[in-house]
Amino acid sequence: MTTQLAHGVDELIESLDRAVRAGDVDQVTRSVKDTLERLLTSGALELPAEMTAPRPERYARRLLHESDTLGYSVLVMTWGPGQGTPLHDHAGMWCVEGVHSGNIDVTQYELLDERDGRYRFRQQGTIEANVGNAGALIPPFEYHTIKNASPTTKAVTVHVYAGEMTSCTIFVPGDDGWYRREERQLSYCD
Ligand SMILES: [Fe+2]
Repeated sequence: MTTQLAHGVDELIESLDRAVRAGDVDQVTRSVKDTLERLLTSGALELPAEMTAPRPERYARRLLHESDTLGYSVLVMTWGPGQGTPLHDHAGMWCVEGVHSGNIDVTQYELLDERDGRYRFRQQGTIEANVGNAGALIPPFEYHTIKNASPTTKAVTVHVYAGEMTSCTIFVPGDDGWYRREERQLSYCD
């Protein structure tokens, strides 16, 4: 069992190392997306139970792997029923996110305007992502929310970032339809 777990993670990392060397950002994200979809759809990536435990107060963010040589990082996020994120960016990094278990709703936003430190966005629709689905965000198109809409079932997602994301910007909606920005420090739990 332990060997099987290690094998799944090892295969993920070997495939991601190849994918991240693929070339420009479009090729890299396409290749990372293919890798995640292949391993998540086949069930080859088994995650240790302690990596996928939900937390009551907010979604759980855990580091699975960080590449010393290529710089990318792989996170596992666990979303309890109803848990989600505010509207946020990805600190200018490309990112590919895939569903390991459960379902998540991903809502993309387009930045329309910035004035005096306030921002206006247009919602571009929501995709329900199921097990094996993966999607890429490439700056400047990097604004979204994620939510586990299920009232009963947790969801687990795997995120690959170009680097280590230690902070991002979240956007807080006001009554007038404009958002104000807040810097958010990000940390790993456990
Ligand atoms: Fe995100």
